Amino acid sequence: MDRIAVVGAGTMGHGIAHVCAAAGCAVRLYDAMPGGAAAGLAKIQNNLDKGVARGKVTQEDRDATLSRIAVAHTIGDLADGADLIVEAVPESLALKHEVFLALEAAAPPGAVLASNTSSISIGSIAAPLADPGRVIGAHFFNPVHLMPLLEIVVAAATRPDVVSALTAFGAKIGKETIVVRDVAGFATSRLGVCLGMEAIRMVEQGVASPEDIDKAMVLGYRHPVGPLRLTDMVGLDVRMAIGRHLAKELGNPAFEPPELMQRMVAEGKLGAKAGHGFYVWPS
Ligand SMILES: NC(=O)c1ccc[n+]([C@@H]2O[C@H](COP(=O)([O-])OP(=O)(O)OC[C@H]3O[C@@H](n4cnc5c(N)ncnc54)[C@H](O)[C@@H]3O)[C@@H](O)[C@H]2O)c1
Repeated sequence: MDRIAVVGAGTMGHGIAHVCAAAGCAVRLYDAMPGGAAAGLAKIQNNLDKGVARGKVTQEDRDATLSRIAVAHTIGDLADGADLIVEAVPESLALKHEVFLALEAAAPPGAVLASNTSSISIGSIAAPLADPGRVIGAHFFNPVHLMPLLEIVVAAATRPDVVSALTAFGAKIGKETIVVRDVAGFATSRLGVCLGMEAIRMVEQGVASPEDIDKAMVLGYRHPVGPLRLTDMVGLDVRMAIGRHLAKELGNPAFEPPELMQRMVAEGKLGAKAGHGFYVWPS
């Protein structure tokens, strides 16, 4: 897979375009918002410049990476000749259906269509397509150029050759891959959100302070970040929505947002982006 197309140039899309171009692929980037793809490209340039300043990226690699990324102005322009198209538009099934139907109409028949969704079932995204066998989950992590994992999500209809092609592509772009069945929360969100919800229940029950609960996991289990700090970083509102979705889909009350979380969201204590969550975050 050498010709990659990315739909949606926001937080995830620009990062996905960055790592694909850095690995030598020709990349096209499209965003429905006017100026969105150019803004994504500017963020990639900024991250590469930081890499050069820190001695992690050479000036030649920076220039070569940027030269491989082109902005596409239509879906047709984006999909033309692509081997792999990665969708990174907001988390809405209706929107993903709209995008995948447009991609199916525009892409070469052999192109793999991947979604970066963090919680929606890949099978449900692929359902309205004539060929759901070419659809797969390519779940990257934020920031994409620094996080080493690619979670590959395989729906019942996904063809085995599509799984092996994406696994090989993951290695090519320098990511470690895991292959997970298309069950709500996949492997990452299911374990991560469960831990986060239990940590919040522990604060609620006065087991320990947020700082000490996080310290327990950082020093006792070698987690790089504690579950409460991570919840602040992701956003309490975002995690609460994922928790509710998983509680319903998996039939497991452990994912239900604790009362403390619901109260904090209602009070606007959404975490880092709001300046206040379990921690105070300087602006
Ligand atoms: N942010 C994260 O940490 C994270 C991590 C893993 C996965 N995800 C998933 O990745 C996906 C994208 O999330 P994000 O955080 O990058 O969102 P974002 O809001 O930062 O970016 C989405 C981009 O898609 C564009 N867009 C909207 N409708 C479009 C359309 N019809 N065609 C083309 N572009 C369109 C928007 O203009 C925006 O630039 C979601 O499914 C999310 O669940 C996010």
